[in-house]
Amino acid sequence: MNSMKAQLMALALILIFTLRCNGGITSSFTRKPHPSIDMPFGSDVFKAPPGFNAPQQVHITQGDYEGKSVIVSWVTPKKTGSNLVLYGKANDKHKLISALAKVTTYKYYNYTSGFIHHCTLNDLEYNTKYFYKIGSEDSSRQFSFITPPEVGPDVPYTFGLIGDLGQTYDSNQTLEHYHSNPKGQAVLFIGDLSYADHYPLHDNRRWDSWGRFTERSAAYQTWIWCAGNHEMDFAPEIGETRLFKPYMHRYPVPYKASGSTSPLWYAIKRASTHIIVLSSYSAFGTYTPQYEWLQTELTKVDRTKTPWLIVIVHSPLYNTNNYHYMEGEGMRVMFESWFVENKVDIVLSGHVHSYERMERVSNIAYNISNKKCTPVKSEDAPVYLNLGDGGNIEGLAAEYIQPQPSYSAFRESSFGHGTLEIKNRTHAFYSWHRNDDGVRTVADSVWFYNRYHRPSE
Ligand SMILES: *[C@@H]1O[C@H](CO)[C@@H](O)[C@H](O)[C@H]1NC(C)=O
Ligand SMILES: *[C@@H]1O[C@H](CO)[C@@H](O)[C@H](O)[C@H]1NC(C)=O
Ligand SMILES: *[C@@H]1O[C@H](CO)[C@@H](O)[C@H](O)[C@H]1NC(C)=O
Ligand SMILES: *[C@@H]1O[C@H](CO)[C@@H](O)[C@H](O)[C@H]1NC(C)=O
Ligand SMILES: [Fe+2]
Repeated sequence: MNSMKAQLMALALILIFTLRCNGGITSSFTRKPHPSIDMPFGSDVFKAPPGFNAPQQVHITQGDYEGKSVIVSWVTPKKTGSNLVLYGKANDKHKLISALAKVTTYKYYNYTSGFIHHCTLNDLEYNTKYFYKIGSEDSSRQFSFITPPEVGPDVPYTFGLIGDLGQTYDSNQTLEHYHSNPKGQAVLFIGDLSYADHYPLHDNRRWDSWGRFTERSAAYQTWIWCAGNHEMDFAPEIGETRLFKPYMHRYPVPYKASGSTSPLWYAIKRASTHIIVLSSYSAFGTYTPQYEWLQTELTKVDRTKTPWLIVIVHSPLYNTNNYHYMEGEGMRVMFESWFVENKVDIVLSGHVHSYERMERVSNIAYNISNKKCTPVKSEDAPVYLNLGDGGNIEGLAAEYIQPQPSYSAFRESSFGHGTLEIKNRTHAFYSWHRNDDGVRTVADSVWFYNRYHRPSE
């Protein structure tokens, strides 16, 4: 009798536990423990190109609101050198156009940057391969890129999703896995680039090495930038109090095209997407420039032309890791209702060094007096993706809140990257690639159905 009673009780306990613990998947994958260490300066991926004063750290980004313009950036180490970009359509090599770069330098404590060039190539044709040439004579270098298709509701387009990359051996693996996947057409970078601030005096030579490291992808396809906390480079103890100084000198974005007054928040349209980039580390309260700008930008979104509305913001509004827990709460309070009301499809965040995908949940009913503080499922809510898993020197964030809350669909503490394959106005295929699995293996995937144009099923 007693043993039967015990069995029943055990069963009841299991039932209660199953009912309560209705979260998603906490992956059982465990990675071989090894420290995340930066590749040394002498590494192959940091090698400067041959030739005197040869252009290095080449990268491109979208230069306007709609994708007809590209900003080409590079650094020359010894002197200004040529500030010309010669470019043309790849199938018409005889017709060369030239554009002039602006050159800037900056100092950071006792570091002096090389000559940083930024050149905007305007009036490009859509969906066209261009080549471009920079530098002079024996140390000139040539690259190419493909412009995005014209903005339209059913234009397929594939983005790579990378966050918190850094420059460790793991970062190298992440970049290699993304780069070897021919599907990726542009990268949505979710903040925290070089982690130069990890070093004494924020050794800005680590900004240079990061630029050389990422060139193999960023010189050939557009990387859309978002600033994270490691871009602040705030170091009053050495007199460096201008926030985002190295980042803003090196990584220009087309913020004026969307009426923004700061490179830290802006928007672009690309193929079938409207992408809004926000800054977790700039004021966003009521009446602030970022708040006012976002409110206006959301009125400009036209889902009949760009069905997919994507927000990129470094610090996550939702995550169930113990690390950095609730750091994004201030922005959630300010902006979540706008995200739900405007049916944002996806919110991309990083910062927490692991991978997590949320269910579509909303916590906008909550106000400080009504106690409705539990996120509820909402078909209008975005999917929050946490891709702080690029592989930087700080290592993995491996401690999760237990049991897994119901709004967490999949979580795993591994390095990797994501891809978002937009097929048409209703369907996009999302997948996450764990580094330990080798190139292109999919560890988590799901179809996203557009929040504005819902498919009929
Ligand atoms: C900057 O100062 C640090 C610490 O004093 C020193 O190790 C480093 O060599 C200096 N760098 C330059 C470029 O002078
Ligand atoms: C980085 O990855 C590339 C591509 O796999 C490889 O050729 C290179 O040797 C790696 N470098 C380091 C320092 O691991
Ligand atoms: C707070 O929420 C309660 C319950 O939903 C609502 O009655 C009340 O008006 C809200 N307060 C404010 C100031 O919006
Ligand atoms: C959109 O793409 C999905 C996935 O490829 C496909 O099943 C669906 O039929 C497409 N819709 C239209 C209207 O073509
Ligand atoms: Fe971060």
